[in-house]
Amino acid sequence: MKITELELQNFRNYKTLKVPFDEKVNVFIGKNAQGKTNLLESIFLCCIGKSFKASKDKEMIFWGEENACVKMNVQKKFRDLKVEIFLNKLHKKTVKINSLPIRRIGDLIGEVNVVFFSPQELRLVKESPEERRKFMDIDISQQSKRYFYQLSRYEKILANRNKLFKICSNLEAVKETVDIWDRALVASAKILAFERQKFVEEILPYAEKAHRFISGGKENLTLAYKCGCGVALDENFEENMDKLLKKNLEKDFKLGFTTIGPHRDDIDIFLNGVEVKNFGSQGQQRTVALSLKLAELENMKEHCGEYPILLLDDVFSELDSERQDRLLKFVGRTQTFITCTDEHKLSGKIFEIEGGKIIKIKK
Ligand SMILES: Nc1ncnc2c1ncn2[C@@H]1O[C@H](COP(=O)(O)OP(=O)(O)O)[C@@H](O)[C@H]1O
Ligand SMILES: [Mg+2]
Repeated sequence: MKITELELQNFRNYKTLKVPFDEKVNVFIGKNAQGKTNLLESIFLCCIGKSFKASKDKEMIFWGEENACVKMNVQKKFRDLKVEIFLNKLHKKTVKINSLPIRRIGDLIGEVNVVFFSPQELRLVKESPEERRKFMDIDISQQSKRYFYQLSRYEKILANRNKLFKICSNLEAVKETVDIWDRALVASAKILAFERQKFVEEILPYAEKAHRFISGGKENLTLAYKCGCGVALDENFEENMDKLLKKNLEKDFKLGFTTIGPHRDDIDIFLNGVEVKNFGSQGQQRTVALSLKLAELENMKEHCGEYPILLLDDVFSELDSERQDRLLKFVGRTQTFITCTDEHKLSGKIFEIEGGKIIKIKK
């Protein structure tokens, strides 16, 4: 997959921009707060349908303007694609693929695959399980629309089950209706849990390899999927989880939420048998987070037949020069967009960014 051209109107600090890209490495260079990350954000938006940082779409519209628009032309192995996103201050965004409006964001996701990495992605290793669930969800959703729809289905069922605890005055009243939700919940939970387990198993060899490569082969990385459903992932999954839901019902009712399910999943990450989250150094955590992201590249290639687009935001300043070199070798496999404040040893098409404009291009 390759982005051939990007066009912006009133997106963040860009009034208008139309820019052709290199099929390999594109570097956005410039001082702080000039609009480098904003460019990556606009690309990510066209791939995933939402921002990696803004919680509301309208934050991405140029201050004081009503509308914004991002257009992206993409060359895929077997067909070309044009993605257009229209943001409006008052209305929901609209998305077109090859000039045809899509009804659901699920129709966009998986069309142009992307992997995003920035220093904040350290969260993936260091912070709450929610970060690791988000990692699994964004990745698997790009490979499987079925997963994407199941995920939103699961979230709705879970919300309904939890709502029951709020609206019912006693446990007996809950028991009268909880069955329908439980049956739907376990069916969705099963799909999510099995897909996530498979995903973690699949990325492990790639992550190990990437980690050995980036770190120079000193430590051994392992990953383990930690299922929050409280039952074994086998052929009796649904029956057993249903039983466990019943067993926990009184507790869940008192707490006001469902205590088991994929919404409690996690991934355990170890280096030489030691948990990285609590005992790893900052440097180790950074290398692990990067390795997980690079593993995504390979896993997506395996599933989709093409490498995804790689976005690297301010990553190079954080790595020593040896690791920078190793990362660059990896980067050559796929179209990559890199932001940084100085050139390091980066080669590729260099775009100099200043105040929401590209002021110089050199190759
Ligand atoms: N909605 C917006 N409208 C106009 N400017 C914005 C908007 N959102 C952010 N900015 C501006 O964008 C700049 C930050 O861009 P960013 O891409 O994060 O910079 P960097 O080059 O450091 O990566 C800041 O100057 C900020 O004021
Ligand atoms: Mg930035």
